[in-house]
Amino acid sequence: MCGIFAVVNDFKKNAAQTVLAGLKKLEYRGYDSWGIAVKPFSALTLSIDKHIGKIGEAKTNLPKGGIAIGHTRWATHGGVTDLNAHPHLDCNKKIAVIHNGIVENFHKLKKNLLKQKHQFLSETDTEVIAHLIEHYLSPLKNKKMTKSKRQKALIKAVFNTFNQLIGSNAIGILDLETESIIACRNGSPLVVGFDKKNQQFFLASDVPAFLKYTNQVYFLKDGETVLIDKNGIKLFNTKSGKQKEIFFEQLDWQIEDAEKSGFPHFLIKEIYEQKEVIKKIPLINEKMIKNLTKLINHDYKIILLGCGSAFYCALAGKYLFAKAGIKAEAYGANEFLPFVKFVDNKTLILAISQSGETADTLIAVKAAQKNGAKIAAIINARGSSLERLADIVIPVGAGPEIAVVSTKAFTAQLTILYFLAKACQNQFLLGKNQIKKLVDNLNLWLNPHLSNQLIMLAKTLVNEQHIYVVGKNLNFPASLEFALKIKETSYLHAEAFAAGELKHGVITLIQKNTPCFVLASDDEVKNEILSSAAEIKARGGKIIGIAPFDSPEFDQLIKTPDNDELNIIFNIIVGQLLGYYLGIGRGADPDKPRNLAKSVTVK
Ligand code: AGP
Repeated sequence: MCGIFAVVNDFKKNAAQTVLAGLKKLEYRGYDSWGIAVKPFSALTLSIDKHIGKIGEAKTNLPKGGIAIGHTRWATHGGVTDLNAHPHLDCNKKIAVIHNGIVENFHKLKKNLLKQKHQFLSETDTEVIAHLIEHYLSPLKNKKMTKSKRQKALIKAVFNTFNQLIGSNAIGILDLETESIIACRNGSPLVVGFDKKNQQFFLASDVPAFLKYTNQVYFLKDGETVLIDKNGIKLFNTKSGKQKEIFFEQLDWQIEDAEKSGFPHFLIKEIYEQKEVIKKIPLINEKMIKNLTKLINHDYKIILLGCGSAFYCALAGKYLFAKAGIKAEAYGANEFLPFVKFVDNKTLILAISQSGETADTLIAVKAAQKNGAKIAAIINARGSSLERLADIVIPVGAGPEIAVVSTKAFTAQLTILYFLAKACQNQFLLGKNQIKKLVDNLNLWLNPHLSNQLIMLAKTLVNEQHIYVVGKNLNFPASLEFALKIKETSYLHAEAFAAGELKHGVITLIQKNTPCFVLASDDEVKNEILSSAAEIKARGGKIIGIAPFDSPEFDQLIKTPDNDELNIIFNIIVGQLLGYYLGIGRGADPDKPRNLAKSVTVK
């Protein structure tokens, strides 16, 4: 996944610096390298600055101008080098291109362009786009023409180019002569921001990049193209080339949603934001929830899908529905295709995704849709591909989740599934009340005392090689998510097991002082989980209990409030906080863990 940002008619007249600041807000989308191209005032050539490495502390000395584009890269085709960083130029250096996605047919396109003597400087698929546009414009080379004529020819050249690209792609183009930005979307997200007060336009992969200027947005749909210059914006259908009306909407996100607001990292800010986010869940559109329960109660086969944390959320959903007397299946979306043959028009897919852009989830959903399934999606980001695919969308409403590691979106999605399961049992009110109780408990429990307790605990674990986490029933998916938070935030190996699995082999891993977290709730399997704890303890393991009760089996207890099935939210938050503090102790970057991107838009 990469980050795209552009500004047209920059009111500070320093577009390169505006783009640099915007890219820094998109760093979570990819941080192998970055680059900016600007059309300096009264210059006859584009100026470009691109480097490998994180953009976080980057500076640029590019000249002032009113229009610029920029990109943060998560390398797919071509190594992490300055030359492979975007933007990429055509041979005449009049067109700069930035790109998010993969051009699956780029070898064939590149071969033809090389035959036409185009000069390539990089190994990327993206550079093909710049030369292909140049190729379509070549009949006009050295011809004098008006700006509007050049713009018409340019947009046609872009349509011809983009319609040849196979794969999920979003591109941004800066044209020197017309001082225009053109962007096309097919799969990877693109959103336009319009700052009416200053008459400036932004183009980005994600809203936080320009939220400080405006929350007036237009999310491009797949198959749409925008052309933006200082006179305004035009929207087109990329296939037909026909112009269409554009309608901006106002997002209910504020600037502070995309700022750290006094926290040292977005991750810890978003962990603490869970109190406010979960508080909004009961206010979710009752009609939407009841529509969904109608399908679930009219003997639709329920299949929950997601990747990574979203898969663990789906797995927890399976247990929550079972408690409500509803049979549901849960799959990692990346392992779903062998089973899609069992999907039919009485299947309801519940797709879970923070970004709505995860390639494996989109592929699984499209395959199920082809077999006639109804698609419901629980999504946090706005304007995503999954939002467009789904028949019913339940917005998570957690606001922009900037940290790569998912926290507030995950617990909000989990709470929505809890709410849905209760609604299916006609216990809508009970569900609301239990969520309100959860929020009250969070307000009391999620506090500096807990953080200090976990900082102390993290200090005792920071040099460990392996940490194990066990749970049973609902606390098994909670254990998987707990372990993932530790792994992805601190790079410390953490492994989760279903408690019942210990005797079947994995207990061989337990040695003297092996740290084992036991996640428990005051539920029907409390005694069984305590027996598992005893088995681990008998082999020398060090037991850290995360539970609303104490036990002699626990060497240490992180006490949680008691909140019925929602207890797992507290258990998971302990994993989030522990991952954060271990990450700091082990020198990781909590907001941008190595090798990860916020949304895996490639399969
Ligand atoms: C979250 O902490 C992980 N980084 C990752 O597993 C994520 O949950 C997964 O990639 C799915 O993303 P999505 O929710 O945007 O689809």
